[in-house]
Amino acid sequence: MDLTRDAAAALDASDPLAGFRSRFTGTEDDGGDGLLYLDGNSLGRLPRDTPAALSRVVEEQWGRGLIGSWASWIGEATRIGDVLADGVLGARPGEVLVGDSTSVNLYKLLLAAIGARPGRDVVVCTADDFPTDRYIVAGVAEAQGMTVRELPADIDEGLDPATLAAALDERVAVVVLSHVAYRSGAKADLAAITRQARDVGALVLWDLSHSVGSVPVELAAAGADLAVGCTYKYLNGGPGSPAFLYVRRELQDELRSPIRGWFGHRDQFAMGPAYEPAAGIERFGVGTPPVLASAAVEVGARLVAEAAIGRLAEKGSALTDLAIALGDEWLAPHGVVLASPRDPARRGSHVTFHHPAAWQLTQALIGSGVVPDFRTPDRVRLGPAPLYTRFVDVWDGMDRFRALLEDASFERYPAERARVT
Ligand SMILES: Cc1ncc(COP(=O)(O)O)c(C=O)c1O
Repeated sequence: MDLTRDAAAALDASDPLAGFRSRFTGTEDDGGDGLLYLDGNSLGRLPRDTPAALSRVVEEQWGRGLIGSWASWIGEATRIGDVLADGVLGARPGEVLVGDSTSVNLYKLLLAAIGARPGRDVVVCTADDFPTDRYIVAGVAEAQGMTVRELPADIDEGLDPATLAAALDERVAVVVLSHVAYRSGAKADLAAITRQARDVGALVLWDLSHSVGSVPVELAAAGADLAVGCTYKYLNGGPGSPAFLYVRRELQDELRSPIRGWFGHRDQFAMGPAYEPAAGIERFGVGTPPVLASAAVEVGARLVAEAAIGRLAEKGSALTDLAIALGDEWLAPHGVVLASPRDPARRGSHVTFHHPAAWQLTQALIGSGVVPDFRTPDRVRLGPAPLYTRFVDVWDGMDRFRALLEDASFERYPAERARVT
């Protein structure tokens, strides 16, 4: 690979997605914030269409329409769910619902899935999954008197399929697993694991937070049963934007949501005496949808659909390949080690590096205008979002990383991790 900045600029010049950068704020077209923002997998940039979409809802629907706009709000969770299903998740209409947080959706679908597998007393997860997933699994299992099989997973390479195979038997009700690991970006084989679990009669509940909008998910083709995920990362829905949940059509009537809110009722405004679940995906609704924030999710989902997930994944691989090659060349001599799978087919769109002073390096990078993320125990995570990150941004970010190591200026930053991040 040609590792010159000119070669990176040439990749930008031939990038079919290059035009999407100007659809985001903070880029050159609106003055630019000058940041090398490599944290699109934590919080995506603001799409330029989002403020107008939000003010349409605020000024027209709320300001002028008042409660008369209710009719257009009530179906938003499924309407925007269908936008995600079709353009991003490879699911069928009526299989995706937008609302609540990823944590709450995980809780709902986990309990619903356990209810659909009576007599089974084990939930499988990995010891290295995102904390909220592990905490929810542990809490639900405790309340249900079930056992958790928490499998060891390599923090850089992900779960070994043989480890999972050995843990699957007729006692397992549900497997909870991230498709792309939050720290390393290691990608699990969604279709193969779905089949493996089905062979023992178990369901898999996928956390797609780090794969949605960055790699093809193709839930229908994989025959996936259940999934949840965030919309504020690669979908650019904004801070705290509502999450989504997916339930395979054929499974929906079998599953009962553990939160019997009126938005999951068959005839919500009948105000009836008892809960009766709606048919289809709507039964997983709970309460009044976050209408404002949902408008931002729609803008983000449509942008990803327009760019096309195949092209985004291809660029994501190329961006992270470049970061890895530069890391080998410039950072490895200073003791920085790749902490993600080297094979692009086994990664999502982010890449992680290991160094004992990762906390200081992360703060030093931020101080020099590069925005990565620190992840415990000692990792620097780079999430170049293919919709708006250029190859030269990766090159420049890695160049500043190298400079901080060469002059040891990162050592001026506190070595102790601050508690807020
Ligand atoms: C894999 C994964 N799951 C869940 C979450 C958090 O979900 P919530 O929106 O409920 O905070 C994150 C947040 O970064 C995540 O990375």
